[in-house]
Amino acid sequence: MSALAKPRDAALRARAEKVVPSGMWGHLHAAKLPSGYPQFFSRGDGGILWDVDGNRYVDLMCSWGPNLLGHHHPEVEEAAERQRRLGDCMNGPAEVMVELAEMVVDTIAHADWTQFQKNGTDATTTCVTIARAATGRRKILVAKGAYHGAVPWCSPSLIGVTAEDRVHLSYFTFNDIESLEAAVKAGGDDIAAIVVSAYRHDLGFDQELPTEDFAKAARRLADAKGAALILDEVRAGFRLHAAGSWEPLGVRPDLAAWSKAIANGYALSAVTGSDWLRKAASQVFVTGSFWAGAVSMAAALATLKVVRRDDVPAHIARLGETLRTGLETRSRQFGVSIRQSGPAQMPAVLFDDDADFAKGTAFCNAALSRGVYFHPKHNMFLCAAHTESDIATALAAAEHGFATVAGL
Ligand SMILES: Cc1ncc(COP(=O)(O)O)c(C=O)c1O
Repeated sequence: MSALAKPRDAALRARAEKVVPSGMWGHLHAAKLPSGYPQFFSRGDGGILWDVDGNRYVDLMCSWGPNLLGHHHPEVEEAAERQRRLGDCMNGPAEVMVELAEMVVDTIAHADWTQFQKNGTDATTTCVTIARAATGRRKILVAKGAYHGAVPWCSPSLIGVTAEDRVHLSYFTFNDIESLEAAVKAGGDDIAAIVVSAYRHDLGFDQELPTEDFAKAARRLADAKGAALILDEVRAGFRLHAAGSWEPLGVRPDLAAWSKAIANGYALSAVTGSDWLRKAASQVFVTGSFWAGAVSMAAALATLKVVRRDDVPAHIARLGETLRTGLETRSRQFGVSIRQSGPAQMPAVLFDDDADFAKGTAFCNAALSRGVYFHPKHNMFLCAAHTESDIATALAAAEHGFATVAGL
């Protein structure tokens, strides 16, 4: 089957090229995706997305995370609409901020308090600032290749970044206790924080869940140094475990950064913290024109109610297992060797002998032509609105993808 027609997308790209540098910025630039992928979308419903040319996709990227319950979830939309009629961006927060903060502190196991921002980068950066303020130290230990946002201290690109922006960062390898110990030793008495992602979800690599030993070592080393353990929950938050992704490991952070799924697509992030960091959190100057916006807070409150009531992580894990098993069976049928990694609710699919991602790209383009949006390098995301029938559609499209790869 040939690529889907996208004349409107092509026309919009041409117009955007003239008024937006390179037509689009960052990770959502279609040039970073297989050639058949659209840049522009017109609407979403549940776990389905339509591009501007009217092509329909079972969406396995879920807005790169934020779409947790499905587009237009009735309870979230009702709460957001009610708040929108009252007011959104005002001279201060609405009552809903306190209700949401109570809900967050009640939901997130480690949290004694919370503060709200807009993007995940705001939250991770705020965590780092609070840790430095509380400890009076400078060094931040981060895992090599981990993504914590798009500002100079943590951006994956060094373009426009100075060496000075990173001077107090040291690196370790995720799940490698020795490398973390070495970084801690090198940091001496100047370590403010150890920052770890909920699991290793680096772009283009097999995903890795944290070992219990590693999580416990991170906790132990942070305690030994009097440093903060910061958990970056921006990507995984509310998909793995409602109370915190490391709860099953029995390890709680001092600070955690949340965003993406917290308000089911509305712009909101949160920092959660332990009591010993409360004073520092009240002293640092962190703010933004839109950080008190009430509509996204109302949406988050409704989202968290649904996440808890319906045990959304367990539901999407079941869907993810069906997808994973189906992909394994079908790839074998076509003699194509794949590696599936990460939690089932955030699946990553990579092909063996595919250093240049040519197989992944061919697979994705073929599946896209059958109406399913996979990603060749990045972890994907399931949402609670995906149905068994959507997964069946994804598997049928994957068959076409595997047949295409087998014929390369
Ligand atoms: C693990 C992680 N941390 C931080 C961020 C930054 O979040 P945002 O893009 O909302 O600033 C992301 C975004 O993808 C992320 O995946």
